[in-house]
Amino acid sequence: MKRVGIIGVGEYLPKKVLTNADLEKMVDTSDEWIITRTGIKERRLAASNEATSDLAGKAAQAALENARLKSADIDLIIVATTTPDAPFPSVACFLQTLIGAKKAVCFDVSAACAGFVYAISIAYQFISRGAYKNALVVGSEVLSRVTDYQDRNTCVLFGDGAGAVVLSEVKSGGILSIYLGSDGANADLLKIPAGGSRHPASQETIDNRLHYIKMQGNELFKLAVTIMTQVAQTALKDAGLECKDIDLVIPHQANMRIIMAMAKKLGLVAEKIYLNIEKYGNMSSASTAVALCEAVKQGRIKKGDIVLLDAFGAGLVWGACVIKW
Ligand code: COA
Repeated sequence: MKRVGIIGVGEYLPKKVLTNADLEKMVDTSDEWIITRTGIKERRLAASNEATSDLAGKAAQAALENARLKSADIDLIIVATTTPDAPFPSVACFLQTLIGAKKAVCFDVSAACAGFVYAISIAYQFISRGAYKNALVVGSEVLSRVTDYQDRNTCVLFGDGAGAVVLSEVKSGGILSIYLGSDGANADLLKIPAGGSRHPASQETIDNRLHYIKMQGNELFKLAVTIMTQVAQTALKDAGLECKDIDLVIPHQANMRIIMAMAKKLGLVAEKIYLNIEKYGNMSSASTAVALCEAVKQGRIKKGDIVLLDAFGAGLVWGACVIKW
């Protein structure tokens, strides 16, 4: 088995900012409620002519430059997304053309907010067994297109963005463990009810606003804290490490209170947690991707550091990955 590591990172955030003050004009909410209950101050919105693959393309170009590779060097493209440009073809195929990665094998992964970790796990399998050399793994979302800006329970939470990494064989360090899990019995807690084969688009589904995210936030909150804690512990154990060995946690950014409750259970000080929820809200698969890219660029992750990715989302699905940088 070959060692597999991340050799390049890149992110892209759309320019348009939606602040809590903007949301106060749209629904019955307040800046104070949003900050204290979620930790979010603002989020980014894609322009009307930007789709998920466009965001992915900009993040991917940045990751390729950072890895000092050309698009022709990429053998595999996996995009994790819940908001594809269209039901098919995949975002990965659109991305292939955008960046000109002609020889790449391309597909998407549907694992909601844990999608980036799931996609990394797949690329890891291919590279560690020698099937492919260089993989581009992207988390990209335009959640604003499936967010109901009449529903205060959800519209304050979500934003748009993309993060990309290049995975390749490395001489030292790299991915030490990956742990994934799923629980389809709780699928109803977070979903977009219509637009698929169960409830195809109709006048009724549109009138009932069933093409937007529906969430039972309270139930999810408790599960998120428990599961994200357990997932971190299991992935660390699989890597032969303990919480005290972690240099930086890159958690999914759904709610500041979820992240801090998890950190407390793991006995981690706030300095060991990377946060960007304040600026971007919850970007589903792009949250962990963008956070990892930013942490690297800001020098929060240095060679030899132990980094833990920890994500949880609709499905339910969860995943953690321990990386020695
Ligand atoms: N502004 C003002 N009040 C709001 C509000 C808003 N934007 N959204 C909800 N409220 C109200 C509710 O209507 C409710 O009012 P009521 O008591 O009169 O019925 C009250 O605030 C409390 O609602 P509740 O849902 O219990 O709040 P909460 O503390 O659980 O926070 C979430 C709501 C969504 C922020 C929180 O549950 C959460 O983050 N959940 C997990 C999300 C998650 O993990 N997702 C999975 C990964 S993507």
